Amino acid sequence: MSPAPPPSSGKRSEAGVASATPAAASTSEAAVAQAPHRPLALVTGATSGVGLAVCLDLARDHDLILIARSAENLDALATALTAEAGARVRSVPLDLTDDNAVSAAVARLDLDGLDVIVHSAGVESAGALEDLPPEQWRRVLDLNVVAPAHLTRLLLAPLRRAQGLVVLINSGGGMRVWPGQTVYCASKHALRAFADGLREEERGRVRVTTIYPGRVDTPMQRRLHGKNASMVEGAADGGAGRPYRAADHMTAESVAASVRLAVDMPLDAVVEDLSVRPGQML
Ligand SMILES: NC(=O)c1ccc[n+]([C@@H]2O[C@H](COP(=O)([O-])OP(=O)(O)OC[C@H]3O[C@@H](n4cnc5c(N)ncnc54)[C@H](OP(=O)(O)O)[C@@H]3O)[C@@H](O)[C@H]2O)c1
Repeated sequence: MSPAPPPSSGKRSEAGVASATPAAASTSEAAVAQAPHRPLALVTGATSGVGLAVCLDLARDHDLILIARSAENLDALATALTAEAGARVRSVPLDLTDDNAVSAAVARLDLDGLDVIVHSAGVESAGALEDLPPEQWRRVLDLNVVAPAHLTRLLLAPLRRAQGLVVLINSGGGMRVWPGQTVYCASKHALRAFADGLREEERGRVRVTTIYPGRVDTPMQRRLHGKNASMVEGAADGGAGRPYRAADHMTAESVAASVRLAVDMPLDAVVEDLSVRPGQML
C-alpha cells in the first residue's frame, strides 16, 4: 500500500474508531495525535475480493470499520491498514445473516456519524432451478439482500447525521439473468430494488450508489468457475467453457476505483448507478 495522501473527499463525521489489536492501538494512537480528520467508512466483506480492494483504497484517507466472519483475517487486515496507511480501524467479526448479532454489534459501535458504508459481502449460487431447494434461496437472499437492508436500517441515523453515502456492490446479475444463476440474479435484482427505494426515501439526507460489476477476479469468481464453467457470470458474453483466466476479468482494484469515484463526488451530486465491465473483449 502507498502512504496516505491528504483526504480527498473533504468530509465529515467524527470517527470514534477504536483500534482492533494492541499492536494496532499503539501505532494508531501515534497516528491520531498528528493525523488530519478522516471520514469514517464501514465495509462488509472486507477480507476478500472486492471488499478487500475497497478497504485498501479507502484506508488512504478514511478510518475504517471492517466486517466479515473470520476474526483472524480481520485482525491481520486491521493491523496492516493501521501500520501502512495510518487508518484507525475497528474490526467486527460478524455473521451478517445473524440478525440479532448484527443489531448487537451496531449498538456496540455506538456511532455518532458514518460517512460511507460499502456493502460488499455476498455469496454466489449456481445450479438449475429444478435442483434448488428453498434453503438455498433463503441462504442467498439472506446474505445478499436482507443483510444489507438490516444493516443499513440500523445505521441510518449516523448516516443521516453525516450526509453519508451507501454503496451497494451489485452485479451484472442485477440487470440480467443467466441460466443456472437465477437465485443469485434474483438476489441482485432485489438488492437493486432496495437501493432504488432507499435512494428515493432518503433523498436529501443519505446518498445511494449501486455499482454493477461484470466478472471480477476474486475467490468468489474462481469458486463459481470451478463449480460449472457454463454457469459463470457473463457466460452469455462468451466466457463459457474456457479454463479460468484472470485476464478475462476485471481486477478488484478496478471495482474499488468505481467505489472511489462515488465516494469522492462532491456533496451536491451522487453517482446513482454505475456499470463497470471488463475492458478486455473475449
Ligand atoms: N467476483 C465477481 O465476479 C463479482 C461480480 C459482480 C459482483 N460481485 C459481487 O461483489 C461482492 C463481493 O464479491 P467477491 O467476489 O469479492 O466475494 P469473495 O471474494 O467471496 O468475498 C466475500 C467476502 O464476504 C465475507 N462474507 C461472506 N459471507 C459472510 C457472512 N455471512 N457474514 C459476513 N461476511 C461474510 C467474506 O469473509 P468471511 O468468509 O470471513 O465471512 C469475504 O470477506 C458480492 O456482493 C458479489 O456478489 C462479484
